Amino acid sequence: MPIIAPSILAADFGNLAKDIEMINNSEAEWFHLDVMDGVFVPNISYGMPIIEKINALTDKVLDVHLMIVDPDRYISTFKQVGADILTVHYEACTHLHRTIQAIKAEGMKAGVALNPHTPVSVLEEVINDLDLVLIMSVNPGFGGQKFIENTYNKISKLKKMITTANANVIIEVDGGVNNINASKLVEVGADALVAGSAIFNAENPTSYISELKKA
Ligand code: DX5
Ligand code: ZN
Repeated sequence: MPIIAPSILAADFGNLAKDIEMINNSEAEWFHLDVMDGVFVPNISYGMPIIEKINALTDKVLDVHLMIVDPDRYISTFKQVGADILTVHYEACTHLHRTIQAIKAEGMKAGVALNPHTPVSVLEEVINDLDLVLIMSVNPGFGGQKFIENTYNKISKLKKMITTANANVIIEVDGGVNNINASKLVEVGADALVAGSAIFNAENPTSYISELKKA
């Protein structure tokens, strides 16, 4: 069964405690936390104070997705506010190998995210250093976008690369995930599903999470 990671970007920020409680009482294992800087992506979301607060209100895994330039500057700060998994973008890191080691040295799991246009082959030389690869199934920056169909193909290729390298890496997919595409994503190799608008716009978010879990 896939790991479910609800994206807080789609939560009600005026009633955040209520949405955190909903996730705490659901079958979701992770909180997916999207940090955007208005430079790497054309949008600004939220940062450390929100993550710190969520950490105080849950025992679940905090899966932090950094859509920021120069993420090395903030690695230890994200550890301090409670990140368990820290994912940086391949496109934002000049010295990716060094960044991955720095994340692991802080005691967090290290993830790398790939934009839709970035081939999985760029990770070949670091695949055994990684804990997670995040395949973006939309262009990062906003919730509620349409799922890009080529994602299935990319996940299959990544799965093959991981198996060949005998690596232990979680494949996570993010953007436009819903109860229609979830089972095919799992079938081709996804281990973790991020979903924002599909969960929070559902009539019953808790049972929507259970539906995704059964994918
Ligand atoms: C997009 C973010 C996603 C976003 C997903 O840049 O990385 O995590 O919240 O939202 P949905 O599920 O609505 O596409
Ligand atoms: Zn994300």
